[in-house]
Amino acid sequence: MPAGFQQISREEEEEGEEKARPGITPTLVLSVFTAVLGSLQCGYNIGVINAPQKIIEQNYNATWLERHQEPIDLTTLTTLWSLSVAIFSIGGMIASFLVGVIAEWLGRKRAMIVNNGLAFVGGAFMGLAKLGQSYEMMILGRFLIGAYSGLVSGLVPMYVGEISPTHLRGALGTLHQLALVIGILVAQVLGLDSLLGTPELWPLLLGLTVAPSTLQLVLFPFCPESPRYLYIVRNKESKAKESLKRLTGQGDVSQALTEMKEEKRRMDMERKVSIAQLFRSRVYRQPLLIAVVLQLSQQLSGINAIFYYSTSIFESAGVERPVFATIGAGAVNTAFTVVSLFLVERAGRRTLHLVGLGGMMVCAVVMTVALVYLEQVPAMSYASMVAIFGFVAFFEIGPGPIPWFIVAELFSQGPRPAAIAVAGCCNWTCNFIIGMAFQSMADACGPYVFLIFAALLLAFFLFTYFKVPETRGRTFDQIAAAFRRTPSLLDQEIKPSTELDCLGPDDA
Ligand code: GLC
Repeated sequence: MPAGFQQISREEEEEGEEKARPGITPTLVLSVFTAVLGSLQCGYNIGVINAPQKIIEQNYNATWLERHQEPIDLTTLTTLWSLSVAIFSIGGMIASFLVGVIAEWLGRKRAMIVNNGLAFVGGAFMGLAKLGQSYEMMILGRFLIGAYSGLVSGLVPMYVGEISPTHLRGALGTLHQLALVIGILVAQVLGLDSLLGTPELWPLLLGLTVAPSTLQLVLFPFCPESPRYLYIVRNKESKAKESLKRLTGQGDVSQALTEMKEEKRRMDMERKVSIAQLFRSRVYRQPLLIAVVLQLSQQLSGINAIFYYSTSIFESAGVERPVFATIGAGAVNTAFTVVSLFLVERAGRRTLHLVGLGGMMVCAVVMTVALVYLEQVPAMSYASMVAIFGFVAFFEIGPGPIPWFIVAELFSQGPRPAAIAVAGCCNWTCNFIIGMAFQSMADACGPYVFLIFAALLLAFFLFTYFKVPETRGRTFDQIAAAFRRTPSLLDQEIKPSTELDCLGPDDA
């Protein structure tokens, strides 16, 4: 663990936790719920495209036939389909890079409200693509909903992190991922051919994405803007106070305000941090490296190889009803995100991330052994299914939820938006690369393909062990102070963490 974080003593951690702990208030619940409706929608669009592939392809073929009086050839169909899938992450990549600018310009809440415009237009294009006999509409719709999701993946963790009390920041931060995985599961279930995954109803399946946006627009007027944004960025003290009072349910919010004042005082001394400055400044080098590598650890773990290609993976593993196994994976995914939600404030981010990466690595090796011996030992098909479920379960213990919210924790108010933009863009880029490359990797490596992910997981495990600090129970200001004490990785001595570093005041 970085030396500066070892110097942050337990007294400081206690100080961060013990001073007037605001609890969970109805306004806080409503605000977090409303924000993560966006995450639900992002997950829905990740999962929705898997099951109805064949029927949408048939529709593309019918459109082609109508336009060209001949059936579509396989290469063109594959290209059109791959584009419909992958353009989602391109939208995500581009939009996530703009998160910082938009969040500072409109504010967190207004940015989320305006973002729904993309969801409505994207949803309409996808929902009307069949009627309009146009795969271009479908592809454009997927791009727009991808852009919407890219903004969500930055704005939601930023808003939730900023409105949460310190001691609940991890648990509430995990709700972004929880809503996202629920979205994936709902889409998998609704996509069944006994529900909306039919030649008549698939436009409804895709167009349904506007439902959470509508609910979000109804609820947001009742939620306050982030007090940190109001005070530190906009200098509106009384509005920030009012927002803090609503969120904490406390009449006296002077302590939270003092903390923000201190952060603002420091921020006023620095200039506004752009993405270029973020890369240039030594102070941010260490947290930026950690933030980026954690995003890489999430995507290059290979999780989306499972979510995008689960049906064919289960098929090659000899599973009889692959569609149900895919839904099983979605259910395990959701259940273990809930487990992480309850563990994250006890075990800490760092420990859970390590457990998750280590567990995924073991599962990847077991999966490989099972696939290699599948022909000789039929029971290996069960072993590979268990290994895939285990892989997904360990993902959600740490690497799923933690990278999304830890970036907001690693940076103070000044550099936070730029850092979230950089991290989000890295995440979506790797998402795109895995989406595009996995099939060829699998063709080239056969049953050994998951060994590549096992090797990457080992590298990420070692990085996390040596470099990633524990941020649980620390205020934004304390975290930033610890990084100021060790501005560069080069300056710091690499020491493995001690038991004590992982213990919070409650455990001691
Ligand atoms: C994370 C990833 C996303 C993935 C999902 C699976 O949110 O960012 O790409 O599909 O987890 O649960």
